[in-house]
Amino acid sequence: MTKDWTGNSNSIYKTLGASNHTDKERQNEDYYATDPKAAELLLELETFSQNIWECACGEGHLSKVFEKAGYTVKSTDLIYRGFGEGGVDFLSDDITFWNGDIITNPPYKYAKQFIEKALNIIPEGNKIAMFLKIQFLEGKERKKLFLSNPPKTIYVSSSRLLCAKNARFDEMIAGGGSAVAYAWYVWQKGFNGTTELKWFN
Ligand SMILES: C[S@@+](CC[C@H](N)C(=O)[O-])C[C@H]1O[C@@H](n2cnc3c(N)ncnc32)[C@H](O)[C@@H]1O
Repeated sequence: MTKDWTGNSNSIYKTLGASNHTDKERQNEDYYATDPKAAELLLELETFSQNIWECACGEGHLSKVFEKAGYTVKSTDLIYRGFGEGGVDFLSDDITFWNGDIITNPPYKYAKQFIEKALNIIPEGNKIAMFLKIQFLEGKERKKLFLSNPPKTIYVSSSRLLCAKNARFDEMIAGGGSAVAYAWYVWQKGFNGTTELKWFN
């Protein structure tokens, strides 16, 4: 495997998301649990409708915060990780409607598809919130997405919030934390104005 400038054999592959791994392996590798603090802070920034779907819930790091706050949360994931319902492919054509809001940290590789899918299946005026790298702002394909469906607000986290591979927050902290900066991207279906940029944390 190609080595990057630091001699690390993993990081180029991870950054580009390019590999010969099977989809199943890829999905397993795409499990990064989100620091629940990210969800707590989101709830200070935005209100949501009573019904929230965490459609890539992992072990429920986000879902549990929404439940505790009194929301009715549907939690599903392609892979059962001991929480919610497994075996649910959010991108499947069988999923056509959700009467509520959608909040997740999606698999990064399919983030654009998750956003488009979520916007397609919720009623006008409902919201989706996606926890994504700030880097998600760039890219020609994403530019098209942002122009046709501008987020209502992007909240940039001023301090680092961790997404830990396989939920190993302890290993991540021991390894010096994270170099990745994140933001909450919030869409309201039908919004066609100028995206507001705000900071939190
Ligand atoms: C970055 S992790 C985030 C987990 C959780 N949302 C969190 O924030 O802790 C992405 C999750 O998406 C799931 N996933 C990948 N492809 C999926 C699909 N097509 N439908 C539903 N879940 C999927 C993975 O299994 C993984 O658990």
